[in-house]
Amino acid sequence: MGKLIFLTVMVIFSLSLAILPTAGYASKTDPLYTDDNDESWFHNLCHGNEKFAKLHFYVQDLLKGENQTVYEVARANITSNSATSFGSVRVLDNPMTAGPDINSEAVGRFQGIVTAADLEILSFSMNINFVFTSGRFRGSSISISGMNQVMNEQRELPVIGGTGAFRFARGYVITTTYFSDPDMEHNVLEYTIYVTYVHQSSMSSCRANI
Ligand SMILES: *[C@@H]1O[C@H](CO)[C@@H](O)[C@H](O)[C@H]1NC(C)=O
Ligand SMILES: *[C@@H]1O[C@H](CO)[C@@H](O)[C@H](O)[C@H]1NC(C)=O
Repeated sequence: MGKLIFLTVMVIFSLSLAILPTAGYASKTDPLYTDDNDESWFHNLCHGNEKFAKLHFYVQDLLKGENQTVYEVARANITSNSATSFGSVRVLDNPMTAGPDINSEAVGRFQGIVTAADLEILSFSMNINFVFTSGRFRGSSISISGMNQVMNEQRELPVIGGTGAFRFARGYVITTTYFSDPDMEHNVLEYTIYVTYVHQSSMSSCRANI
């Protein structure tokens, strides 16, 4: 009986391998590619069937105007009197671009919910999905969840998972504010994602390692 269940699981597993998309490193021609730093230390962390990707892009935060992409959907009765806008919940669908210019190549959408969740410091609880629409990872997504203290120059949030090429993803993102317009109409955020994930074509040897 145990053997039969094992065999059934293996057959389902093998079948699923046939329909998985291919995955790999962002190539130098990919709009998400960056070679800013030597990341060899990070590559050395990867072993077995894990692959590594470093993805770099910008997020266009449009708070007002005809192309607004960020909308408040809820607030607390203290939000207006709170120095940190505590309790404000916003839904957003921001363009992701290869360069800082809003008219540079579109690479995806930055979709999710951002909640002002700190009574003392300007800090947002982020539940965000990076949905890639171009390049090698088109159709795949990466999800992050964590606190974002936006007054800090550099912020770090955990990657909590992914879909498509990024199944079994884990890692982190580093984000900085690249540009913030004084009228608070348009912010540009720089994002770099450091992610490991299971290379789909080597999942069969993953199985052998269990
Ligand atoms: C809004 O988007 C359209 C289409 O991309 C563009 O032509 C227009 O200039 C944008 N408006 C503003 C205020 O940026
Ligand atoms: C906010 O609502 C709570 C009850 O829900 C009430 O006790 C409190 O006084 C309200 N605060 C303000 C600033 O209106």
